[in-house]
Amino acid sequence: MSVKYFILCFFIASTTGYAIRNELGLTEDIPETKICEVYSQANNCTESKPECFTQQNCDTKQKQNCLTVWTLIKETNKPLLKFKSCFPAKYPTKYLKTKECTATSDVDIPRYSCYCDGDLCNKGLTWIPPIPETKSSTPASPASTQQPKSGYIRYTIAFIIVVISVGLFVILVLNHGRKKKCNDDDEDEKKQILEIIGSPNLPMDLNTIKKIEIIGNGCYGTIWKGQFDKNTVAIKICPEQSKDVWKNELNTFKTPQLKHDNILNFIGGNPYYSNDKPEYWIITDYHENGSLYDYIKKNILNVNEMCKIAETMVKGVRHLHSEIPGNMAYGYKPAIAHRDFKSQNVLIKSDKSACIADFGFAIEFEPGNVCSNVHVQVGTARYMAPEALEGAMTFTRDSFLRIDMYAVGLVIWELMTRCDVLGTPVGEYKHPYEEEVGPHPKINTILPIVAGEKRRPVIPRAWRNHPLLAVYCETIEECWDDDAEARLSASCVLERLINVRNLTKQNSLSSSTNNIEDTSV
Ligand SMILES: Nc1ncnc2c1ncn2[C@@H]1O[C@H](COP(=O)(O)OP(=O)(O)O)[C@@H](O)[C@H]1O
Ligand SMILES: [Mg+2]
Repeated sequence: MSVKYFILCFFIASTTGYAIRNELGLTEDIPETKICEVYSQANNCTESKPECFTQQNCDTKQKQNCLTVWTLIKETNKPLLKFKSCFPAKYPTKYLKTKECTATSDVDIPRYSCYCDGDLCNKGLTWIPPIPETKSSTPASPASTQQPKSGYIRYTIAFIIVVISVGLFVILVLNHGRKKKCNDDDEDEKKQILEIIGSPNLPMDLNTIKKIEIIGNGCYGTIWKGQFDKNTVAIKICPEQSKDVWKNELNTFKTPQLKHDNILNFIGGNPYYSNDKPEYWIITDYHENGSLYDYIKKNILNVNEMCKIAETMVKGVRHLHSEIPGNMAYGYKPAIAHRDFKSQNVLIKSDKSACIADFGFAIEFEPGNVCSNVHVQVGTARYMAPEALEGAMTFTRDSFLRIDMYAVGLVIWELMTRCDVLGTPVGEYKHPYEEEVGPHPKINTILPIVAGEKRRPVIPRAWRNHPLLAVYCETIEECWDDDAEARLSASCVLERLINVRNLTKQNSLSSSTNNIEDTSV
């Protein structure tokens, strides 16, 4: 349904945009941008150092412009070059025929950004202050005379796009609820297509970020709590030897339309030179509750908390796994497999919902691609599906997504072990398979248990006698099925979890079943 509207929206917007351009005599061809000049003042660079200027091949999957950003030095009132790079196109831009740009200030910040189209159009670009519109009698530079006209076009086109998007959004909302079946394209995802999601992540000056304290030590970096502007942030700092993992995580975070309530919010990422040693930084939102693993080790969950965490976590996975077509504002989002899904890589937000983190091993799938050069045995042995432990899987998108779903089953099981819904004492936190293989299993230890004997974490009998937990049990068993093809997709898991919670609520079962006797094995 939304695909149809999206195509319609695209058609109307492009036709209208073209008509306006025609009307204003702007029918020249805007060149495609494949390469831009790159510069970052954050890396101890100044404009006088030619080695600081490099070039970057733009991501041709999405329309890109070349971006240049200046700030104004207060004392001298002169512009200072801050940053240059490829950048996802915000508006249809005017092809600058001169090397001058009249950039306007970004809202509330004395920062001036200029976008241009065409290969290396930001090379040697200088910033000239905007000329007040009232002084029209003085001859203006070519760039500045074009500014009001191109600004008018941008605002008109932006206005039309907003009107069309709002209209389509209303239509989608009206249609919401007509279709209810278990499939991978869900209404929530469709809404994403029409949403302008946040503002793009501008390059940041890492010198302005203050490190406060270490909050985590992952395998590939140190995680700091930090301060940026007035916000508390998390900074993941990877050493040189983890550069590839950092790069993969950064690229994944930059995937168009990845932004979602249940995916850790990315703020920025850059290499940073501390005492001439490169460090690789990723800055994200900070979540005080830490990981799901930290949280359930310390806290026992009531049934509502368990359901909320499980549902929001699965929503995050569904979003990660889903393919979303490109739209007027953002590029195409391929399906992404996480490949290291576990309770340490799920964070708990302040409202006790979950978001997915740590994309160091994630892979993206373009339609029809077979990823034969991908290493299968990545991730954490404890959470690896039998076929991954055995190294016996095909390298297709679905195989990787099913491996994630196996781990999702284990994490929901962890949640259930720490929930007090039965009204009986809740045991200490235990890792999945901890009883069978101890605290730090290697692939060789866990392989015979999971792939050989096909054992899975123990499900107490009392869980099966509880209306809500029984559905959770069936669901996790279908997630960790030995037959990968029989495993549930994230959409199906989510649908089941939401349905059973609604049913429980309707029947007021949650209160009356809190005292079910524990007949666990
Ligand atoms: N944004 C964040 N807010 C709070 N804690 C975090 C955040 N990011 C990571 N952590 C903590 O740091 C740990 C390791 O982070 P992660 O990104 O998984 O690094 P690694 O790739 O090294 O495993 C997490 O398990 C969590 O406890
Ligand atoms: Mg991790």
